[in-house]
Amino acid sequence: MIRELMKLAGRPGLVSLGGGMPSVESFPTRAVEEACIRALRTSSSTALQYGTTEGLPMLREHIARRLATRGWAVDPTRVLITSGSQQGLDLVGKVLLEYGARVAVEAPTYLGALQAFAPYEALSTAVPCDGDGPLPGELPDDPGLRALYLIPNFQNPTGRCIPEARRATLAAAASGLALPLIEDDPYGDLWFDEAPPPPLASYWPEGTVYLGSLSKVLAPGLRLGFLVAPPSLYPLLVQAKQAADLHSSTFVQTVVLEMLRADMLEEHLQAVRARYRQGRDAMESALREHLSGHASWSTPAGGMFFWVQAHTGVDTARLLPAAVERGVSFVPGSAFHCAPGGEDSLRLSFVTETAERIEQGVATLAGLLRSASPN
Ligand SMILES: Cc1ncc(COP(=O)(O)O)c(C=O)c1O
Repeated sequence: MIRELMKLAGRPGLVSLGGGMPSVESFPTRAVEEACIRALRTSSSTALQYGTTEGLPMLREHIARRLATRGWAVDPTRVLITSGSQQGLDLVGKVLLEYGARVAVEAPTYLGALQAFAPYEALSTAVPCDGDGPLPGELPDDPGLRALYLIPNFQNPTGRCIPEARRATLAAAASGLALPLIEDDPYGDLWFDEAPPPPLASYWPEGTVYLGSLSKVLAPGLRLGFLVAPPSLYPLLVQAKQAADLHSSTFVQTVVLEMLRADMLEEHLQAVRARYRQGRDAMESALREHLSGHASWSTPAGGMFFWVQAHTGVDTARLLPAAVERGVSFVPGSAFHCAPGGEDSLRLSFVTETAERIEQGVATLAGLLRSASPN
């Protein structure tokens, strides 16, 4: 479905509320151009050469310093540069999962993670959640359970942010069960009012693999992310990475390092946050105007998505072809569940389109949802 949506998103005229595509206006094109020139002029011998699997040491140091500002002191030698956090998911799957093992996930969760774990033939099992995230008392005490996969900040797809107290109890519960945590955090920098609490990994660093991404803060086409792993798992993850692709592009790593050295990130992030906040506000008022009484949602304090639950009892997957026909895309809720569920929900992205087109897309969708009768 993601693949098909990516194709649709490129269709001229389609209002793309589906794929989580960062706004093209947010791309730091000039900074990338200048960093490319600096990388080639000053570091072409390393930028165009094979590199170490772990990644450029100075880039790893920058990442560790940045995580320290988020309330987590990280040893740079525990940072592994990856080709997007999607590769991080694949690597943890390779190292932690196997046929018949179980991995606990939120319901709903990022469908790309379900896809990444699927080839290792583990079974994804949903942990009961409330509005604050997974319920620590509900973590299964199951010897076959190999990991708990969580997206604590502005979750994809619900937009939910796990509060500090719940992070502490979740980390304590996982540690009590010796259940490794996979913390996926591509949206933590995209907050609108205040920064989220420190990562879960800061509560239990010995048991957590933290995955980060530069896709949402710089540009997804760079395909650069990273993971931070405890000493027990780091060497295994490095071996898995080496076997997969030797290392992430040294050229892209050098370009990103040049950008970070030029100290452009904070200012850039402020602009991205302001833009996405406008998109969030536009979508919220469009939802209120067109869907009040027909659906419910909660307003995300960051990230890229609204999670909308229709009251009509309609299966939103069945509405998608008609929506695309009328020029708007979304992702049906069932795609984010590891078992049947979420059929009455849909995920809407507020970062790809302008405020006017968000309003237009929501109005079209609302018309479809309101007229759909339960089957
Ligand atoms: C929760 C989550 N994890 C991982 C990814 C993959 O990100 P990347 O572009 O870094 O591979 C995404 C992308 O949308 C995501 O939403």
